[in-house]
Amino acid sequence: MKENLNILLLGSGGREAALARSIAASPRCTKLFCAPGNAANWGQNVPFNPTDFGKIELFITANDIDMVVVGPELPLVNGIADRLADLPVKVIGPGKEGARLEGSKEFAKEFMFRNLIPTARFMTVTGETLDEGISFLESMEPPYVLKADGLAAGKGVLILGNLDEARTALRDMLEGLFGDASNTVVIEQYLSGRECSVFVATDGEDYKILPVAKDYKRIGEGDTGPNTGGMGAVSPVCFADADFMEKVEKRIVEPTLRGLQQEGIPYKGFIFLGLMEVAGEPYVIEYNVRMGDPETEVVMPRISSDFVEILEGIADSTLGLKKLTVTPEAAVTVMLVSGGYPGAYQKGKVITGLDKVAPDIIKFPAGAVRDAEGNVITSGGRVMALTAMAPTIEEAARRAKEAAATVDFDGKYYRRDIADDVLRFAAEQEGK
Ligand code: AMP
Ligand code: GLY
Repeated sequence: MKENLNILLLGSGGREAALARSIAASPRCTKLFCAPGNAANWGQNVPFNPTDFGKIELFITANDIDMVVVGPELPLVNGIADRLADLPVKVIGPGKEGARLEGSKEFAKEFMFRNLIPTARFMTVTGETLDEGISFLESMEPPYVLKADGLAAGKGVLILGNLDEARTALRDMLEGLFGDASNTVVIEQYLSGRECSVFVATDGEDYKILPVAKDYKRIGEGDTGPNTGGMGAVSPVCFADADFMEKVEKRIVEPTLRGLQQEGIPYKGFIFLGLMEVAGEPYVIEYNVRMGDPETEVVMPRISSDFVEILEGIADSTLGLKKLTVTPEAAVTVMLVSGGYPGAYQKGKVITGLDKVAPDIIKFPAGAVRDAEGNVITSGGRVMALTAMAPTIEEAARRAKEAAATVDFDGKYYRRDIADDVLRFAAEQEGK
């Protein structure tokens, strides 16, 4: 085992900033490079994209890189792990086969069906089977859930209130609403319940379940308006209690890993279970083959043991020997976004007030970079995640929102209700 590792982290969002902070904190990490990175300075930025496999290969060889950590899904779905398989480098993230759990909704649903993993009832439809698809819709109750099979930048899920809209949307999707991603559509039973995100680190045999989190996808307070990449997150989640997590482990995590093994799909990396809790029972809404954003911004700060040890366990099939320690403290993150997001928005706004935030608030740049003068400026829709840790969720939420009010830029928006629902659920649970 090499003591000192040179690590290359692919990606540039808040998730990657949170991974970078935990990696850089490890005594095992000698040098951390972020490609392309952002305004975070836990590593050294290098200017190439996570999908530029040629540049990645050259960089690994030229800089004696020992480990590549893949943040986003696209390089995984495009086969980065397979491409690097012949280099003497550890890769955190599955190969192309395993990445189909996220890259193809049809594959993921069929996988769950074969492996008896609880999920919504479904049917897969293509242009040739449109009539069967319409009949299936007619056999269901509203609302109707339609999902593009392929990656559609988080926009490929439509939820329609009535049958006419659902029929029209199904036709539109098959006719290219999301390009090739919706040549195949999965129609799903609507599940009504509470969502949470469970992250599993695995070396293909052993696994560790990371702290559970909940994210806030809609732009508006009270979960209204269009979907975004995520407006905030909280960890832990009161309804994901020990009893629920035991069900998740036995009915979902273990059968998923067994299924991958039985189907001959090697998997080293993270599995993100998007879950719906329906009357105490967990159902899989989706698999992702990476960490979540902004969940990572609350999950990573709660991990107090050496994260590089976990990464090494994943890569070397020694995860069973590694220690994962989680602090009982709660974490809440609030995402500052650009005015207009998730629609059109402006970039290049100077971010101010960063020095006025309490020192224990963690600032995870997302769409934020440094300009030539060293100013931190906005470069994306989701600009910065501000994470607070505290003994209670209430306190963490209050402090994260206080920080969100302090940091400023032209057009800044954030949700003031992050974690409020979880506090409400907790109050209801106590009242019972
Ligand atoms: P996804 O892109 O798969 O994460 O889906 C986006 C969002 O749509 C999810 O976070 C859920 O809020 C919602 N959703 C997806 N599938 C279902 C379902 N079967 N029932 C209810 N809501 C769903
Ligand atoms: N927060 C959801 C995701 O990362 O896909």
